[in-house]
Amino acid sequence: MTEEKKRKYKFDTLCLHAGHNVFETNSIVPPIYQSVAYPYESAEYAAKLYNYEIEGFTYGRMDNPTNDIFEKRLAALELTEKALLTSSGMSAEFMACVRLLEKGDEFITSGHTYGGTNQLFNSTFPKFGFVPKGVSNPEIIENWNELITDKTKFLFVETPSNPNLFIGDIEALSKLAKEKEVPLIVDNTIATPALQQPVKMGADIIVHSGTKYLSGNSTCISGVVAGSKEYIDDVKANEYRNIGPSISPFNSWLLLLGVETLSLRMRKHGENAQAVAEFLESHSKVVSVNYPGLKSHPQFELAKKQMKGSSALLSFVTKGELEDAKEVIDAFDLIIHAGHLGTSVSLATHPAFSTHQQLSQEEREAIGIPDTMIRLSIGLEDIDDLIEDIDQALKKIK
Ligand SMILES: Cc1ncc(COP(=O)(O)O)c(C=O)c1O
Repeated sequence: MTEEKKRKYKFDTLCLHAGHNVFETNSIVPPIYQSVAYPYESAEYAAKLYNYEIEGFTYGRMDNPTNDIFEKRLAALELTEKALLTSSGMSAEFMACVRLLEKGDEFITSGHTYGGTNQLFNSTFPKFGFVPKGVSNPEIIENWNELITDKTKFLFVETPSNPNLFIGDIEALSKLAKEKEVPLIVDNTIATPALQQPVKMGADIIVHSGTKYLSGNSTCISGVVAGSKEYIDDVKANEYRNIGPSISPFNSWLLLLGVETLSLRMRKHGENAQAVAEFLESHSKVVSVNYPGLKSHPQFELAKKQMKGSSALLSFVTKGELEDAKEVIDAFDLIIHAGHLGTSVSLATHPAFSTHQQLSQEEREAIGIPDTMIRLSIGLEDIDDLIEDIDQALKKIK
């Protein structure tokens, strides 16, 4: 069956079958093509391949048959024409943006983005002469509109955002982007396509850290850009080829294994996270909880409208001072303190002193990250064990 025909299948089926023709590979599991070069059947074939007249495999820095299976699968899940695997989420973001920008061009972001993304936008990109503009109060669409000029080349939103769970209105931003004839890029890492398909709401380009829920158990650093055939081919033929942020086929094979269970995992992650968020919200040692599945979340209704679940990233602010938050983190027995999220085991981090350390305290507070904030990435453990662990850790606060 062609890939085009397979698109009639529902999401859970695509997680298992999209991109892989079992008769072509003679294997029910996608094989790992551990090769950096591919034979060209004729001089004519090679010439066409290098001239982008036909699709095929040229050289391992540009393409690989195992990677190709995952790219087709992810494109099917994100409802885009094509996808491109990269070595990390950060390189996916770099690839997605750099193709759209020339020196002096501007782009607009919600400001609520992963710390590494903030650094890329505000520290690395200005070196190339690219001008980032962060929207204040990005829940107000007019605030985005006011920043758009004829130099604006795209809008970028991470939703839900890491670590403070800002929810960007994808439909409203897509509408604005279309009016202004610029693409909307959505970082869909936290929701994954199992919970949110931005293309359905009008988004043009999707980026992922595949390192998180897509692979699901912390075995590979990886990233993906998804979008139209024209755009992905253009990225691939230019910066991707010239810079070389390719992924190893072993890592894309791990992604293929992981994505098979994406829907199941996201369901259980979400159930656990909802229970933890409700427990934290009722806890006397907790000041506030950020989780889009709670009615207290300022964008609860929007999250319900554009997502099929609330994913499993949440953050909460403890009572007391910085030292109290540190004590809670150190007191976790089951939950592991590590700079990561979106994996099978539950993890805790302290954003002010890890991912967002490069920002000043004022800058952190301006984007809702106080020093007593703890971020939890809720895993697939038994919920009773998780709640018991969190409760005993919070008891450390006097
Ligand atoms: C939302 C989001 N986007 C992108 C990234 C970067 O991904 P990677 O670590 O795979 O480069 C992260 C990393 O935590 C993230 O949380």
